[in-house]
Amino acid sequence: MRSLIDILELSVDEIEELISTANDIIANPAKYSEKCRGKKLATLFFEPSTRTRLSFEAAMYELGGNVLGFSEAQSSSASKGESVADTVKVVSCYADIIAMRHPKEGAPLVASLNATVPVINAGDGGHFHPTQTLADLLTIQREKGGFNNLTVGFCGDLKFGRTVHSLINALSRYKGLKVVLISPEELKLPSYVKSEVLKPAGIEYVQTTSLEDVMPELDILYMTRVQRERFFNEEDYLRLKDSYILTPDKLINAKPDLSIMHPLPRVNEISVEIDRDPRACYFKQVLNGKYIRMALILKLLKEAGSID
Ligand code: CP
Repeated sequence: MRSLIDILELSVDEIEELISTANDIIANPAKYSEKCRGKKLATLFFEPSTRTRLSFEAAMYELGGNVLGFSEAQSSSASKGESVADTVKVVSCYADIIAMRHPKEGAPLVASLNATVPVINAGDGGHFHPTQTLADLLTIQREKGGFNNLTVGFCGDLKFGRTVHSLINALSRYKGLKVVLISPEELKLPSYVKSEVLKPAGIEYVQTTSLEDVMPELDILYMTRVQRERFFNEEDYLRLKDSYILTPDKLINAKPDLSIMHPLPRVNEISVEIDRDPRACYFKQVLNGKYIRMALILKLLKEAGSID
């Protein structure tokens, strides 16, 4: 049974196929409106979400299917001590596909080993968020026309930001990538991402604390929120939370075709004035997230033999 836990489980060709399907859904939505008639998606969210859960649900409805699930652990039998393994064995009796978010790294993998339907990782702790990465890739493809020869700046909480880890993994497979890592010392990209992804792929990368210094060279600026929920100490969070705030004056030396991305939710790290800048792509990412999740649901249900 094919699930999606880590973006690297998808080949470059499969990502191309998903992007092509998503672009076709955008161009011809009516063609897809009955593809999942009679099928059910279960959204099992043990951690808060707005975009991921609602875009999965909107995606399934737009494919003609139905949705069931819960949006907090407290309203499920996890609050009585039921394991993730048992939860998905039960939900497999009711649904054809599962999207799961969980605060513990590896929980969706455990789910995929116990479910009898496909499981999609909708974010596990500070680990991975493959469908956000698919939304990011669709956005980059639509804004930049492809993935080769890009200089991508990741700014903010690179330690806990699971969307950063997944996107670096995904982009590492394309030619000419240059990565610029902009963060406070305490929130640097984990060493394992550098030693297991960037270095083996021979990807050029620099680490800096200054966004202004590197702004002129960036094709994409991927801003991130400082992840309060992953800090052990509130004082550290308060000290670091406003390390980077993107305001119009900081863009003076940016490329005219820079793409400003952010997985959202944002707190303070992008001023609302930037929303009017044509280079702001973060609300496009939100919409693209629905289309790429439609493409993914179709692919996994087809491979499971649930739909034609
Ligand atoms: N980008 C993202 O995962 O947003 P939510 O936490 O609202 O799902």
